[in-house]
Amino acid sequence: MTSVNPDTGKTLTVLGIETSCDETASAVVTGPTDRQVLSNVIRSQIDEHSEFGGVVPEIAARAHIEILDHIVREAMESAGCGWDDIDAVAATAGPGLIGGVIVGFMTAKAIAMAAGKPIIGVNHLEGHALTARLTDDVEFPFLLLLVSGGHSQFLLVRGVGDYERLGTTIDDAIGEAFDKTAKLLGLPYPGGPNVERLAKSGDAARFPLPRPLLDRPNLDMSFAGLKTAVRTQAKKLEPVDDQTVADLCAGFQLAVSDVLAARTRSALALFRERHPDCPPVIVVAGGVAANQQIRSSLLAAAEEAGARFVAPPMSLCTDNAAMIAWAGIENLALGPVDDMQLSPRPRWPLDSENSGVLGSGKKGAKV
Ligand code: KG4
Ligand code: ZN
Repeated sequence: MTSVNPDTGKTLTVLGIETSCDETASAVVTGPTDRQVLSNVIRSQIDEHSEFGGVVPEIAARAHIEILDHIVREAMESAGCGWDDIDAVAATAGPGLIGGVIVGFMTAKAIAMAAGKPIIGVNHLEGHALTARLTDDVEFPFLLLLVSGGHSQFLLVRGVGDYERLGTTIDDAIGEAFDKTAKLLGLPYPGGPNVERLAKSGDAARFPLPRPLLDRPNLDMSFAGLKTAVRTQAKKLEPVDDQTVADLCAGFQLAVSDVLAARTRSALALFRERHPDCPPVIVVAGGVAANQQIRSSLLAAAEEAGARFVAPPMSLCTDNAAMIAWAGIENLALGPVDDMQLSPRPRWPLDSENSGVLGSGKKGAKV
């Protein structure tokens, strides 16, 4: 199949770079019509951070510096590409841990300048938001539920660059709540997979845990209180035995699943109100989407509402550079981009009109 970009008359090939958290990643992707991931190289820093129970920004930035050039070379080589073969360099310019973002975006600018290619500064959240259009045939508008270590939000994705945040966490991101809950129960980082593993042998009904904010009509969420409720129960029974840890993991996971399913039902109802003529689609992205119980309750909520449920493969759901390259392609397909003057941004809400949930001060919204 020959695929043609209507604007430039050719398929675009973009090199992507992602360094906003604890993955150093680079990828080469083509599109917008002939959608192919030619390479997708990711190096996780989990080993560097695990002894601290979470990501240490300074360690992350240094680790990105040490390895990024090798990762980019590997991505180019395994895609079989030379600099002449790529049309642009796309890199995460925010939001994220600013040290890492600076390393990635400045490296990308240097490559773009040396190779004489345009640079595209990609919003990391836009990368997550548009991934389903790389992996599945998803048309605008659609709903996105982003559930990662840094973000928990429902977004209405109306088009490239056209997002409306419908609801967000007002405190901890869900992955963060999993990680903190795991830590207080003595489980290693990253907490999510460990909580899920232990929850399998736990009794979710043993401890009454809250479903925060579900009495409110909007789509916002809160997870800090749930984590504190786990801590309170654990403290009462100190020293906690293995079965108690498993029961608390199961109770916590069920509470999160219930909250997400309820909010998904409301988000889909809102989608139908806004776009009565469009088939409802909900896309899930972020590391927490790996959780089987959460996935099944989201799928059930979507089926109940007659909506299509799309979960990109896990390797493209968690942080990666293919999504950044793809977001670059989607932007470039709309016309020329030159972000050489753009500065890396620690905070960069996708929806600028609706960004005041956590700290609407000089730096913008946190989540
Ligand atoms: O998207 P991601 O890889 O990185 C960012 O945070 O951007 O997400 C990582 C988060 C961590 O907080 C991790 O604990 C959580 O996703 N996670 C899970 C599971 N696997 C990863 N949470 C719940 N259940 C899981 N199976
Ligand atoms: Zn992410």
